[in-house]
Amino acid sequence: MAGRNFLFVPGPTNIPDRIRRAMDIALEDHRAYDFPEFTKPLFADLKKIFRTETGKVFVFPTSGTGGWEASITNTLSPGDKVLQARFGQFSVLWSDLCTRLGMNVINVDVEWGEGVPLEQYREILGADRAHEIKAVLVTHNETATGVTSDVKGVRRILDELKHPALLYVDGVSSIGCIDFRMDEWGVDLAVAGSQKGLMLPTGLGLVCASEKALEATKTAKCVRCFFDFADQARMNADGWFPYTPAMTLIRGLRESVDMLLEEGLDNVYARHHRYAEAVRRAVDAWGLKLCAKDPKWNSDTVSAILVPEGFNSTDVINMAYRRYNLSLGLGLAKVAGKVFRIGHLGDLNELMVLAALSGAEMAMRDVGIGIEPGSGVGAAQEYLRSTATTR
Ligand SMILES: Cc1ncc(COP(=O)(O)O)c(C=O)c1O
Repeated sequence: MAGRNFLFVPGPTNIPDRIRRAMDIALEDHRAYDFPEFTKPLFADLKKIFRTETGKVFVFPTSGTGGWEASITNTLSPGDKVLQARFGQFSVLWSDLCTRLGMNVINVDVEWGEGVPLEQYREILGADRAHEIKAVLVTHNETATGVTSDVKGVRRILDELKHPALLYVDGVSSIGCIDFRMDEWGVDLAVAGSQKGLMLPTGLGLVCASEKALEATKTAKCVRCFFDFADQARMNADGWFPYTPAMTLIRGLRESVDMLLEEGLDNVYARHHRYAEAVRRAVDAWGLKLCAKDPKWNSDTVSAILVPEGFNSTDVINMAYRRYNLSLGLGLAKVAGKVFRIGHLGDLNELMVLAALSGAEMAMRDVGIGIEPGSGVGAAQEYLRSTATTR
């Protein structure tokens, strides 16, 4: 098929040519005497992406799921109480991982399309006078439903209640795309993955740990080896890794961090917001609804779009892929067949967003959804034109 596949799943995302070139290198000796000259500044700059001065970022050869596991096993002991709200496939999976690692998980089930229920968290944490809950989990951006939660609000509750639990944030589809502030929001463990906002191939899991989280590692009894923070910290201090690092990806990571810092994180967040807003204008013009039940939950990295009753969203996705070489995100678990997702994160510009909307529009019409041709694209174009800046 001529031309490129239009990759609009919410991760993996498009890899900019700059990053590809940075990874097109011969393998290198990760024990060479001058290797730390490369790694030490990278460790320092990674902290800027997490917006932390006091935290420590660990880079593991893994995916986001490994990052979840690293955050839990390094800081908790089997039987510890963990509070998690489940409102989409990724918050469900993180909860499941905690259970399988022996945690005593308190699940709060929330309707899919909503986010972390602050008032329920307040009630549960307020009732926990003995401070048995050791970990409070927040899926910052639930990629399955296109919902962003209020991490700062959870920190406020913990502070008001003087509850000492550690605050864990899954930032796999938010960090490097939408506002995230490790220090300011008092986050203790934050997890990111390479294949989303960092615009890299899958293969790196990044975990940022606060000083309080690092202190907790000293008493945490979960078995860990590959993901041990202490092994990493000891070697990272002098610029090394405890085992062979995924150097090709880490060279790409250097370029990715440079690109994000050159653009400026606030500009990166504003760009993501603008493209997300263009997609939302299109959804409105189509007369369709997002899975997110209220604008306050709207995600700036992924929109999960509900197809009308009587249609199967998987048909739209297959049509878009088979006819127009456009990859849209599948509906997962509870929302399978009900939503298709447009990932609008990473390396994107206006016309790429419009191409995805155009393909989605054609595919929806092809399966018989009666939307007005060009309506969504037109609404998005007008929004993008009215907010455009001239270089
Ligand atoms: C919010 C969120 N958390 C965790 C994960 C799991 O990450 P991975 O698939 O890289 O293991 C994903 C993957 O899409 C995700 O979107």
